[in-house]
Amino acid sequence: MTLAGKRVVITGGSGGIGAATARAAAGRGASVVLIGRTEARLKSVAADLGPAVSYLVADVRDGEALADALEQAGPLDHLVTAAAGGVAGPFADVPEDAVRDLFETKFWGQYRAVRAALPRMAPDGSVLLFSGFLYRKPAVGLSAFAAVNGAIEGLVKALAVEAAPVRVNALSPGRIDTLGGGDPMPSDARREYVAMAGREATLGRIGTADEVAHAALFLLESTYTTGITLDVDGGLR
Ligand SMILES: NC(=O)c1ccc[n+]([C@@H]2O[C@H](COP(=O)([O-])OP(=O)(O)OC[C@H]3O[C@@H](n4cnc5c(N)ncnc54)[C@H](OP(=O)(O)O)[C@@H]3O)[C@@H](O)[C@H]2O)c1
Repeated sequence: MTLAGKRVVITGGSGGIGAATARAAAGRGASVVLIGRTEARLKSVAADLGPAVSYLVADVRDGEALADALEQAGPLDHLVTAAAGGVAGPFADVPEDAVRDLFETKFWGQYRAVRAALPRMAPDGSVLLFSGFLYRKPAVGLSAFAAVNGAIEGLVKALAVEAAPVRVNALSPGRIDTLGGGDPMPSDARREYVAMAGREATLGRIGTADEVAHAALFLLESTYTTGITLDVDGGLR
């Protein structure tokens, strides 16, 4: 299947991986609708990507606002759910509310988006969810990400069975040179992070959003692939 003439909705579409996926899909001839919270970011990405890309403002933690946005987006062929927040810190110290907020965005945000979109999806369409490497390669201070990513990978398998013939897959990025749902790091910390990512990955470097987008397009277009999580992590497992 080619994406030419298809409609793709991307939550977190103004972020690193979401915007790269939007660019790649538009490049294949799809029309793309971005969803995020910050209008200025959405507007700037849409302006950069051209007339095939539009946007709607919604917070995925707000089920009603998200359902309204998906209704406005209209019938769709593919849903990509890349919106995420972030929380880091020792298990004993991180406030429970911060962990709940991560789940509100990254688990419930994806869950709600799929529920709202499925009734309007083309039967030969697909859903692409996002987990992340911390489920398979846990790290100190990042247990909440491990848990939310594991929950998404469980959901993918079950949804693939229930949503068929609509296909449901997930992508698990490794360390990618984007914000990863967090706040921008000071430049020294960022340099150290990129160097550490290079030491840890088999391929010896951090990944790019475009490399994740390439795999995202594969999952959207691969008509006999459902219920899988694809690691795009440079071997970081
Ligand atoms: N980058 C990595 O190293 C990495 C590693 C493993 C997994 N992942 C996963 O890959 C996915 C994409 O990450 P990324 O690196 O592209 O993140 P990113 O660059 O930080 O982008 C996050 C996007 O989500 C949007 N967003 C955040 N909270 C939202 C909310 N409540 N409602 C609506 N939109 C919201 C942001 O826009 P606004 O803030 O303006 O709303 C932005 O568009 C996430 O699931 C992330 O956990 C990333």
